[in-house]
Amino acid sequence: MREAAASAIRREDYAAPAFWIRTVELTFDLDPAKTIVASKLAIERNPQAAPGQALVLHGEDLTLLRCLADGESVSFRHEEGLLVIDHPPEKDAFTLEIRNTCAPEKNTQLSGLYTSTGGLFTQCEAEGFRRITYFLDRPDVMAVFSVTLRADKAKYPVLLSNGNLVEQGSLDNGRHFAKWHDPFPKPSYLFALVAADLVCREQKIVSRSGKEHLLQVYVRRGDLDKTEHAMASLIASVAWDEARFGLPLDLDRFMIVAVSDFNMGAMENKGLNVFNTKYVLASPATATDGDFAGIESVVGHEYFHNWTGNRITCRDWFQLSLKEGLTVYRDQEFSMDMAGSPSARAVKRIDDVRGLRAVQFPEDAGPMAHPVRPDRYQEINNFYTATVYEKGAEVVRMMATLVGREGFRRGMDLYFERHDGQAVTCDDFAQAIADANPGSALAVNLAQFKHWYAQAGTPRLTARGSHDVTTRRFTLTLTQSALPSPGQPDKQPCVMPVVMGLISTDGRALPLRLAGEEAAHGTERTLVLTQPEESFVFEDIDDAPVPSLLRGFSAPVVLDSGLYDGALITLLRHDHDAFNRWEAGQRLALNRLLAALPGTGELPALDDAYIDAMRAVLRDPALDPAFKELVLTPPGEGYVAEQCAEVDPQRIHRLREEMRQQLAARLHADWLWAWEAHQVREGYRPDAVQSGKRALANLALTMLVLDAVAKGDPVWPGRAYQRVKDAGQMTDRHAALKALIDGHSPLAQGALAHFHGVAAGDDLVLDKWFAAQAQAAEPLDGGGVVLGRVKALLKHPDFSMKNPNRLRSLVGSFCRENPAAFHRADAAGYVFWADRVLELDAINPQIAARIARAMDRWRVLAEPYRSAAREALARVAGSAKLSDDVREIVSKALE
Ligand code: PHE
Ligand code: ZN
Repeated sequence: MREAAASAIRREDYAAPAFWIRTVELTFDLDPAKTIVASKLAIERNPQAAPGQALVLHGEDLTLLRCLADGESVSFRHEEGLLVIDHPPEKDAFTLEIRNTCAPEKNTQLSGLYTSTGGLFTQCEAEGFRRITYFLDRPDVMAVFSVTLRADKAKYPVLLSNGNLVEQGSLDNGRHFAKWHDPFPKPSYLFALVAADLVCREQKIVSRSGKEHLLQVYVRRGDLDKTEHAMASLIASVAWDEARFGLPLDLDRFMIVAVSDFNMGAMENKGLNVFNTKYVLASPATATDGDFAGIESVVGHEYFHNWTGNRITCRDWFQLSLKEGLTVYRDQEFSMDMAGSPSARAVKRIDDVRGLRAVQFPEDAGPMAHPVRPDRYQEINNFYTATVYEKGAEVVRMMATLVGREGFRRGMDLYFERHDGQAVTCDDFAQAIADANPGSALAVNLAQFKHWYAQAGTPRLTARGSHDVTTRRFTLTLTQSALPSPGQPDKQPCVMPVVMGLISTDGRALPLRLAGEEAAHGTERTLVLTQPEESFVFEDIDDAPVPSLLRGFSAPVVLDSGLYDGALITLLRHDHDAFNRWEAGQRLALNRLLAALPGTGELPALDDAYIDAMRAVLRDPALDPAFKELVLTPPGEGYVAEQCAEVDPQRIHRLREEMRQQLAARLHADWLWAWEAHQVREGYRPDAVQSGKRALANLALTMLVLDAVAKGDPVWPGRAYQRVKDAGQMTDRHAALKALIDGHSPLAQGALAHFHGVAAGDDLVLDKWFAAQAQAAEPLDGGGVVLGRVKALLKHPDFSMKNPNRLRSLVGSFCRENPAAFHRADAAGYVFWADRVLELDAINPQIAARIARAMDRWRVLAEPYRSAAREALARVAGSAKLSDDVREIVSKALE
């Protein structure tokens, strides 16, 4: 922790290292209080670097015991976070031997080597390896690692590291050892070790090429019965990457280890992925359908990193999206392929876009806005963002759209052909995809396309159409613009693939012939917008059509389609693109909320046209239940807030709640039907079909409870309560609990007590118990009750500030996912926020910084929220001891 403000690290300052490290031999004498690390590095001068440079190694919170160069002692000095050897041997290659200690037990940051539930675990991305030993801790330095682990055999029976197990055996004093060798050169951020009392599920698989591999999932004793889904997901991931991208598993053994204390979701260490338990452990009794889907996608994500991230890694951390954007794209595609039917694919796409808009769009409009490839940072941990991950994935998706599915595969092949084993840049990736597709819209516009990497902010795309009956022409004019963002006052136009179609008002997909073309080319095409404004003229259009634009959300932009209700209802009914049907429904709801926002009264009664359209979707036998659930759920409060120049979180909450209340009342008979018609009677499977039915039935239950509580009718709350007690699986139990809490039923308290009882100490179930209370809908009359409950829960014996999952479930959910409870006129939510951020910063700065981001959008808040929020931010910023992590967030917010 530094006291002074950290200075920014800049992308333009990148310089290759003065030395390379070719091999590393590490020996660990593991002990939670004091671990001794012996490191032997084969160092080579970089002939391309300026001669005479010092050897500067990173090191943080370490005690140095010894430092020898080629067996001789060498003089060194310590600088802030660095070990400087001013005069290393004047040779091209030499050996450096280091011996140091670290204290895993005291490591509450969970970066480096730390303890969790009696075991020892590492987390090295981005800069954790330097908290284990002195090293050139940067991703462009790739070395072959050999690792010896020594530890007490009874306490740490399992000793794991990257690659292959070479040898193991007993030592004196009840200790034992294991030697591991990873044949692939890797950067230090991919190093991992685990020493713990674990058990594993294992499975042998044979890859397409006939090679045998051992897959293992390690968990704590007692959790083995919750590893089946993770293993199935891993097997599916291996098969998918081979089938879709021709990328096989390159190791004999591939391990996943679950750990309860983890800052992020999971980590792709070579051959030894370390996972947050949340993304490994699942049984029908403890995990929801959403949890099962999360496991599949994260297991896939980490596995896919083996090629996109590990075999080809990042030259520097500014290129983080090179591996993350691409790997998110790959995991999204994997989940879509696993979902199966076209409609299940669309549901996954809608989910992903919802997430992008809920998190990335606000980020891109706030003080932390940064390009997919950032230009500067103070603390790299703050740049594991929705922009780098999810917007980065959208950029890859646009490339895939521009070159087509086969073209993208060719591009990936070329990328591996050129760069396997290297540390490269986002430019290298884009170049490979373009070069494999000469003449494509991507290749032709590559320089301009790359603005997507360089410019922050969400571009706005405006569409206006005009139809001429006499010429039978429809002219579509597309305009793009982008607002300034921090450090970027002027924006260049982007290359936007706009997948589109035209629909007649009676629902036909019209053949599309652009002016100058001989014949129509199908009913869907991709317009590529490169100018600030362009018009596209469609021929042979008899009547004014409804344009369906940006199908499948083909570019990460805000679309102003200018369409009125009638056209939106046509799209909702007839569009061939499921994403745009959903989008039309959302827009209809949004328009009604936005129209009422400026006033002070209640939401006016929803018009029949809207209610009928919602009913038609709900009752449509041709539509999937999962899709219906998405359409019938109004846009979230955060998304509504992003549409406002000035945000009143209380008003948004009230109107949205009133909208739900009206939907509950007006569609009462339909909800009854939906509940009855979507009960799953066969045994539990977390697949798209069953989970879709459960999602819709549970939305119906929520609406029935909401309506019943308003009318004082005890029947549906009683049923929901019964569900909390009897449900055979977590999806339904959890949904019933939420329905009672968010419906403000008096039965909620009893249901919570029951839920806590059946949790029986299961950490992941307890996390849900905390989160359900922190996310509880604030009652409209009076309100303000949620914060009181959250404060009381801080003192609950099951709560701990030190466990990231628990902290996120209570403090994170409250500050970041419950705007109406958080933004209070009396500022008590902000005081709570500031207290927690400061308290947590001393324990775990990475997580503190994530919570700190709850205030990102304070500038758009209405008074009195705005002034109170500024005051809370200023209090945190004025604290004498702040980590670089939190300082960067609060100082940018106040800039
Ligand atoms: N690289 C990890 C992933 O996206 C995320 C991560 C980053 C985990 C930093 C831990 C620390 O898969
Ligand atoms: Zn990743």
